[in-house]
Order: sequence, then structure tokens, then C-alpha cells
Amino acid sequence: KKWFAVIGDPIAQSKSPEMHTSWYENDGIDAAFIPIQVKKEELEKAVDSLKLLGVSGFCVTIPHKQSIIQYLDEIDETARLMGAVNTVVRLQNGKLKGYNTDGDGFVRSLEEVIGEEHRDQSVLIIGAGGAARGIAFALKNQGYENITVSNRTVSKAHDLVDALGIGKAISNDEASETLNQYKILIQTTSAGMIYGDTDLPFSIDDMSTEAIAADIVYNPLMTPFLQHASNIGATIVTGIGMFVHQGAIAYEHWLGHYPNTKAMIEKLTENVK
Ligand code: ATR
Repeated sequence: KKWFAVIGDPIAQSKSPEMHTSWYENDGIDAAFIPIQVKKEELEKAVDSLKLLGVSGFCVTIPHKQSIIQYLDEIDETARLMGAVNTVVRLQNGKLKGYNTDGDGFVRSLEEVIGEEHRDQSVLIIGAGGAARGIAFALKNQGYENITVSNRTVSKAHDLVDALGIGKAISNDEASETLNQYKILIQTTSAGMIYGDTDLPFSIDDMSTEAIAADIVYNPLMTPFLQHASNIGATIVTGIGMFVHQGAIAYEHWLGHYPNTKAMIEKLTENVK
């Protein structure tokens, strides 16, 4: 029997065990998926223990995505560039290799909703943290040509576009003023997470009714950003899709095929509503 895990702190809220277990059942795979709470100072011991006990692979979440890199045997190119790992695979030779499936997971989720025909359209990524970096990189690799990054701290937006060699960097205030020029808007800041807060720290009043608005946050499902987009009749892409697809790409690394993402997105969407 194979077994998998997710490590983080806190971990009780993780939907990964439920998601992966449901896929094993659907696909007739004899495997288990266990959530494990790992404190920051015990990460190295935890990784060595998982390896020793024969884990086939595991997910990595907050606060270990960056610090785990030093304890793995190999790091995939994308994860190395992102400086963060969210998926670990045990290789044939027993070594542990780290991947990052967040950015590609986002792009698959976006394109599951809007298809591939918008790759030449203007994209605005709001935020310049780790999540924004992974998404910008994945979009660039899929051929999105016209990417702008806005951030409260503009220097971080500049660092991001310089590092990836994409588009341009602007402030959130500039983004607010020019918002209707962008077709695809991607909200990646933690500001979008504030539950029950109807005001974002920057104005999104000028959003085009033709826009496609995506958020990486899925709890709440309808963030203030998506709620506004929905109110004006824009297309919305919730954060559930990114969560499901990042997990599905991990699943494919471990088990060799892509699981059913559509049914999972519907099920989780119902659960968090
Ligand atoms: P993650 O890895 O989830 O992207 P992060 O690297 O800590 O998290 O990045 C958080 C992002 O949210 C940053 O873009 C941050 O802006 P700054 O770089 O200016 O800090 C943004 N952010 C967090 N709180 C914000 C707020 N109240 N208003 C605007 N942006 C905010």
C-alpha cells in the first residue's frame, strides 16, 4: 500500500487529504493520505522520518514551502526559480525531489474556465509575493505575452518583472486608475483573504465588465474582489480551481495520470459555499 502526506502548521484546515483520498477511491488506487502537523524547528527531522518510513510523496504548505528546499535531495527547475516547493516526489532511487505545481495549477484552472484563446490579452497580476511569482512564471511559459504586475510596494513588483523578464511593474494605485485596460485580472494578495471585509485596500471600481477576474484565495470562496467582479457581470475564476489543479499535478507526478478535476472543483465549491 502506498501512502502520501501533507505537512504544514497549522494543518487541520487542509482539504488535501479529503481531495486525494477521494481521487484514490475514484481511480481504484490502494493508498492513504495523512495530514501531519510539523513545527518549523522540526522540519528536517520530519523530512528524514517521512523518507525513512517510505512515503511515496507529500505536499508542503505554510510555513515550510521555502525552508524545505535545503532538506531535499533534488529540486526541479521551476521550484528552484520560485524558491519554493509544494510537492515532493520519492524517485525510483529513493531520493526526494521537490516541485512547485502552484503556478501551473493556476493556469490550468484559469484555462479550464476561459480556454486558451486569451493568451495575447493584457494581464494584470495584483501582488508580488511568492504566489504572484509562480503564477507570472507559469503564464509566461504558456505564452501569455502581455503581463503587468502591480504591488503596494512597487519595488517588489519591479524585482519580479526583472527576475522573470516580463512586462512592467506599477503601483496598486496606478493599477486602480487603469484597471479597465486589463482583460485578465489576478488577485494574489493576502488582503483579499480578510473574511467579511468588503473593501480592498485599493479601488477596483474601474474593472471592465468584459474582464476575467481570478482570485487565488478560496476561503471565502467569493472574496471581495470576486464579489465585485460578479456584481458587474465579469467572468470569475475562484481559488478552488487553483487548489484542485496544483493537487492534480502533484497526483500525476506520483501516480502517472491526471485525476478528475471538474467533479472535485464542483464538490469543494459546494462544501465551502
Ligand atoms: P504569498 O506567498 O501568498 O504570495 P507573500 O509573499 O507574503 O505571500 O505576499 C503577500 C502579497 O500581498 C504582497 O504582494 C503584499 O504586498 P507588499 O509586497 O507591499 O507587502 C500583498 N499585501 C499584503 N497585505 C496587503 C494590503 N493590506 N494591501 C495591499 N497589499 C497587501
